[in-house]
Amino acid sequence: MQNKREGFLSFKIEKMYDLGNLVTFIPNKKVPIHNWFYFKEGFSRNFVLLMLDWLDIKIGNWILDPFCGSGTTLLTSKEFGINAVGVDASPLAVFVTQVKTEDYDLDKIKDYSRKLFSKKFERCEIKGLSSLTKRAFSKYSLEDILFFKEEIKKIDDPKIRNFFTLALMNASSKVSYAYKDGGVIKIRKKPNIPLKKIFKRIVKKMVHDLKKVNYKGSEIKVYIGDARKMDFLQSDFFDAVITSPPYLNKIEYTKVYSIEYELFFEDFKIDSLRSYIGLNPKHIRDLFPELNLPDVAKAYLQDMNDALREIYRVLKDDGRCSMIVAEGAFPDRIVPVDLLMANLAEKIGFKIEKIIVAKERVVTRERIFKIGKARESILIMKK
Ligand SMILES: C[S@@+](CC[C@H](N)C(=O)[O-])C[C@H]1O[C@@H](n2cnc3c(N)ncnc32)[C@H](O)[C@@H]1O
Repeated sequence: MQNKREGFLSFKIEKMYDLGNLVTFIPNKKVPIHNWFYFKEGFSRNFVLLMLDWLDIKIGNWILDPFCGSGTTLLTSKEFGINAVGVDASPLAVFVTQVKTEDYDLDKIKDYSRKLFSKKFERCEIKGLSSLTKRAFSKYSLEDILFFKEEIKKIDDPKIRNFFTLALMNASSKVSYAYKDGGVIKIRKKPNIPLKKIFKRIVKKMVHDLKKVNYKGSEIKVYIGDARKMDFLQSDFFDAVITSPPYLNKIEYTKVYSIEYELFFEDFKIDSLRSYIGLNPKHIRDLFPELNLPDVAKAYLQDMNDALREIYRVLKDDGRCSMIVAEGAFPDRIVPVDLLMANLAEKIGFKIEKIIVAKERVVTRERIFKIGKARESILIMKK
């Protein structure tokens, strides 16, 4: 299908709606280790598998995911003996990726587990917590969470400490009244199983998951960083990039995880986060003046242009990049992010090989007036 738009945005677009589920996190909910943390914004292991095939990735190659989120690209690479590097601006994402891709001594985990669950409960003060966090749990659950958090802090081995922290985060989400509805947190009370019971069950399951894996041996590294400026990565190094940047209009990745941040990342100040894509619409350089885009879209595309430049720099010649992007909906229009990004990538030097629409959703204003359809597309390009 040839895109109807004229001139600089006329790219060939293919439709493959059977990939619609793969570009979401949903299939990961049933996959061991991938499901240690529910990351709504993630894509699936099966998507990465497909890309490893399409991009012709071999054992020993190096893959980069500059927006690694919960580490789906890295963990899948590890499974197949492929080396991978992840970068993310969010400490929560980097933490989750690290714990999921680490190698563990299972006997040590079992040993610590026995000790942890035999500790005598001591009540911790919940007064200092925000009202949102207090509303998100029953008093009993919250006291249990704080008790275990303090006990986990005492574990001297950082790897093991992080393992139990992720298990506790997962257990906390299971007893939480809070749920993520789009970009906001909502509260819905429900009956609960005691936290300790769920926490124990989760640790057991995580150990069981680790027993089943048989990694082929590869290097996996994760960094806190900014995809627009990855100075710490060598030029012309990576064989491929598999990634999904934040979506335009859905770029706020800290607010929905504010309870996790408050409970488990005490030192992190949400306000201090400045490196998120499109969050700083000051000093905008308009890359498409002829389109008269909304300011947030201009800021987003400017940031993504910087990220694309960096991806181009770190890829080897002939290296490929697969990136999931979505069109952005505004009250008066749909911004064709896939085509605009393809245009920017071409100007940087990439050859656009494919634009595949995996999903299309109808967008409405006030839930009544149809604005149009917004595509979620896979961009495949070559350096
Ligand atoms: C769509 S999610 C990636 C999900 C990932 N594919 C997965 O399966 O979990 C986008 C990620 O980009 C991160 N991010 C936002 N701005 C960033 C930046 N400037 N540099 C690096 N990462 C950034 C967010 O923290 C978020 O984790």
